[in-house]
Amino acid sequence: MASTPLGPSARFNRDVHTTDDPMAAAVALRDGRLAVLPTETVYGLGARADMPRAVARIYAAKGRPADHPLIVHVAHASYLPEWGHPVPSYATALARAFWPGPLTLVVPRTARAGDFITGGQDTIAVRVSSHPGLQGVLRHLAAMIGDPAVGIAAPSANRFGQVSPTTAGHALDELADVLDPDDVLLDGGPCEVGVESTIVDCTGTAPVVLRPGQVTAGAIERAANVRMGHSSPVRTPGTLPSHYAPSARVIITSPQELADRATLRTDASVGVIALADIATPPGLVRLSEPVTSDDYARVLYAALREADALRLTEVLAVPPPRDGVGAAVLDRLTRAAT
Ligand code: TXA
Ligand code: MG
Repeated sequence: MASTPLGPSARFNRDVHTTDDPMAAAVALRDGRLAVLPTETVYGLGARADMPRAVARIYAAKGRPADHPLIVHVAHASYLPEWGHPVPSYATALARAFWPGPLTLVVPRTARAGDFITGGQDTIAVRVSSHPGLQGVLRHLAAMIGDPAVGIAAPSANRFGQVSPTTAGHALDELADVLDPDDVLLDGGPCEVGVESTIVDCTGTAPVVLRPGQVTAGAIERAANVRMGHSSPVRTPGTLPSHYAPSARVIITSPQELADRATLRTDASVGVIALADIATPPGLVRLSEPVTSDDYARVLYAALREADALRLTEVLAVPPPRDGVGAAVLDRLTRAAT
């Protein structure tokens, strides 16, 4: 599915109730409606994880295949055993070390986690977000329904295969025409991390990274005092190559190649994403100039969206160094380039 450039002519239903009040989102979720929610990584499209019909609307809105499982967001690490069992001791150590934060743990599921969330798999992905907006929603929802371990099932708030939104406006660009007026968008500002959480398979004797994120394999090994495993039987359907792709063709390049290409051709339909110390060749459109790898992750998806809004045909991306969140940035760029 090609994404629609969202210029001023884009026509969408903009009636979705937008608010900065977590209670309004909690009420919508309580009543079985959807809420677009901020997290520290990317915006999510949430429904109560114990309401099959509400969760079904997530799949319909995103155009997401039904066998792609969802992450359940809970308020606190102490609720992990409500959703997953058995939880290996290294997973408990990771929850203690990194929650709330950009880490998702895949564990065998309990009866709380229905087939309609797990895509029929016998595992469940659980995360505790540090975003005060989402934490507020979970707190209000838990109090209203009398269930402290309540979960919010939420994938990234983009159409299937598209770039994840990192601002409320980008989430609206993705979903406004498929949400109902009584669904709610909670505006929690731009996302701090900018790329999706690290997903770790915790069903075996050692943790295995299924999707890289800001929490690195090295940090996981240190925090849980374990060696990473390298192969996992767990299926992760949403991490197909070709995800995270804008309409513009993304080409991963080096600083030298960038300079060389520009001497061949100057072209106002070509964009550049690179760290700030890498110069923009004449005639190309600079989409972002992050100073650090963390900045790079934070602005990457907005830059890819900007490329489409400007109707660029190509984006030349020089990845940041591979340490820290750099590995996750390279992973997403590689997918965008597929
Ligand atoms: O940062 C994030 O993780 C964001 C925010 C909103 O929390 N969420 C997110 O969700 O990225 P989504 O659905 O776009 O990506 C979740 C990935 C998918 O690739 C899905 O296949 C995988 O997690 N996943 C979910 N449950 C799983 C499970 N039980 N086993 C293996 N993979 C699972
Ligand atoms: Mg996603």
